[in-house]
Amino acid sequence: MTNMPRAAVLGNPISHSLSPKLHSYWLNRYEIAGEYTAIKVTEDALETTLRDLPAQGFIGANVTLPYKVSVMQFADQITDRATLIGAANTLTFKEDGRIFADNTDGYGFMANLQQGAPDWDPKAGPAAIFGAGGASRAIIVALADAGVPEIIIANRTRAKAEALRADFGARVSVVDWVQADKMLDGANTVVNTTSLGMAGAHDFKVSLDAMSTKAVVTDIVYNPLRTPFLKAASDKGCITVDGLGMLLHQGVPGFERWFGRRPEVDDATRAAVLS
Ligand code: ATR
Repeated sequence: MTNMPRAAVLGNPISHSLSPKLHSYWLNRYEIAGEYTAIKVTEDALETTLRDLPAQGFIGANVTLPYKVSVMQFADQITDRATLIGAANTLTFKEDGRIFADNTDGYGFMANLQQGAPDWDPKAGPAAIFGAGGASRAIIVALADAGVPEIIIANRTRAKAEALRADFGARVSVVDWVQADKMLDGANTVVNTTSLGMAGAHDFKVSLDAMSTKAVVTDIVYNPLRTPFLKAASDKGCITVDGLGMLLHQGVPGFERWFGRRPEVDDATRAAVLS
């Protein structure tokens, strides 16, 4: 075994993950001796895998589906934002073996919008969110933190949106999925957090007629990069930001913590990950 610092992404399935490409690109670009790999792990093996990693030279790990929630029970220290979201995606192993857990998805979401739409002002008006899964939760926490005055959620399963409202309070309201187009009227920020529009998934069929051309529109789906939802928004004249940037930016805090350098997210990074 070398003394090279190692990190990995844990999930199941894991072969589709872009994180190894991203972190390997940064390691190479900044000439850092390190390694970043993908580890497929079953639910039963999650804890022992985590506990064994430090002895193998691992200094941290990303966690992806389906373990972002369950990994929290093995963490010894959890950041406030991960606690609020109820999920972690970035782990750092301390020298004494303790596991520090953070969630950088909301950071990645915000950094992506700030980079892709520099004039975007989250405080300027309501945000309309399609979907109420794990990604939606992280995004709602980030938007509330950034001072968005009102957050409206529409989700196919209404109860999941209601649960988010119960957790995040007065600024959050819920509309029925069949009325989802109505929440677009007056929205300043519009986000698709559902899997609709992803290659192989169902289409995103909600009408964008009520949406202002001043809305900043983003999608967490990045395959394809230009989803039908983003295309429709941009055809209307809206500023759109694709979902790849969220993935790239969420990797920044982990890389910096593990390898000691804050990496850039720029065109070269995007090209490397897409290659
Ligand atoms: P993630 O953690 O990545 O957000 P998830 O928890 O599986 O993933 O959430 C997927 C989101 O896409 C949910 O909001 C889901 O709606 P439900 O809560 O009703 O399942 C939404 N979604 C998936 N397929 C959908 C479809 N065909 N129509 C509408 N919404 C859909």
